[in-house]
Amino acid sequence: MFTPEDFIRTITREISKLGVNCAVAAVSGGVDSTTSAMVTKLALGDRLIPVLFDTGFLRLNETSEIISSLTGLLPIRLIDVKDEFYRAMINLTDAEEKRLTFRDVFYNTLSRVVKDNGCDWVVQGTIAPDWIETTGGIKTQHNVLAQLGIETDKVYGFKLLEPLKDLYKDQVRVLARYLKIPSAITERQPFPGPGLSIRAVGRLTMEKLEVTRWSTRIVEEELSGLGLSQWFAAAWEDDRVIDEELSSMVKEMDNNLAVDVFGIKGTGVKGDSREYGRVVLVRGRLSNWSNAFNLYNRLTYGTNVTHVIYELARRRPSGGYFVAIRAVVTDDYMTANVPMLNESLLRSVAERLMENELINAVGIDVTPKPPATIEFE
Ligand code: XMP
Repeated sequence: MFTPEDFIRTITREISKLGVNCAVAAVSGGVDSTTSAMVTKLALGDRLIPVLFDTGFLRLNETSEIISSLTGLLPIRLIDVKDEFYRAMINLTDAEEKRLTFRDVFYNTLSRVVKDNGCDWVVQGTIAPDWIETTGGIKTQHNVLAQLGIETDKVYGFKLLEPLKDLYKDQVRVLARYLKIPSAITERQPFPGPGLSIRAVGRLTMEKLEVTRWSTRIVEEELSGLGLSQWFAAAWEDDRVIDEELSSMVKEMDNNLAVDVFGIKGTGVKGDSREYGRVVLVRGRLSNWSNAFNLYNRLTYGTNVTHVIYELARRRPSGGYFVAIRAVVTDDYMTANVPMLNESLLRSVAERLMENELINAVGIDVTPKPPATIEFE
């Protein structure tokens, strides 16, 4: 059984034996990186320098919210690296290319900060699902290097400390509560390292990024307090075309339905391997709301479809942006369910999103993990 006292005793003893001169901790304000920095601080004290990168892919007001919730716990230094990330990532389209580029810029920037401060180690909050998914080829998480055989001291000039690398999210939360980290952080929903760059799906543009940032705020506000594990928005071009074959498959379930296919691709996991497949939209009146949550069964089995979305609102046949609402329940983030949210609640969230003229249509992703992943990229 996991007990925070034993874990802390063992890990601080191990860290003390490493001969660390000083370490830079990459903190994102999430529970994993904050807890990993706090545990390391118990062993290193002032030899730990916690930094927060403003990558430009964070949510509205996120940096100031993180700094204020960490006041008194970690003396965090904010480093503005937006230009570096935008220069490298704007216009990238492929999901893995975005993830690999993000990781590259992230570690090069860390390497510079480590050198500038005369340090020799980096502390990061990698946990078990991060490296399991990365080494399993599902998707490259931004904070996995050692498990891929990348020797950071040779490539980036620092040694890597990952005190939580064998823990799962629920254990990290137990540890965080024990360390008296505020609930604004311990209970915070996970947010991927590459942030909104992988939620502005497909070709990354500044406009799509801003639509995603704005939509994320609305969805987070509207769906908070419902006991969800993760809830957010993603956006891409509304350039759908009808697919007759998939449409005939859903008509067997509900005669009024039709299926459109988007131009972007979405990540899924089928039979333990990655699939970068089609993202489809089911539109039309349902005879029963609960049918929406079974649509994925027909459309993902035996096809290359990874995400099935049910349309909640639309302005014109196509054009502008499509916004997908994602809401899942999970303990370990390795699998996830989509709860049957109330129809009128979702339609009112869609209406609020449609107040933005750039948004043409809104839908709810009804695909569990597997066969989808929680994020679209
Ligand atoms: P997926 O999309 O693979 O996500 O079902 C599983 C969980 O991991 C989060 N996630 C990430 N976290 N760096 C992170 O720190 C990443 O690169 C990353 N990618 C996905 C995702 O939000 C979900 O909680």
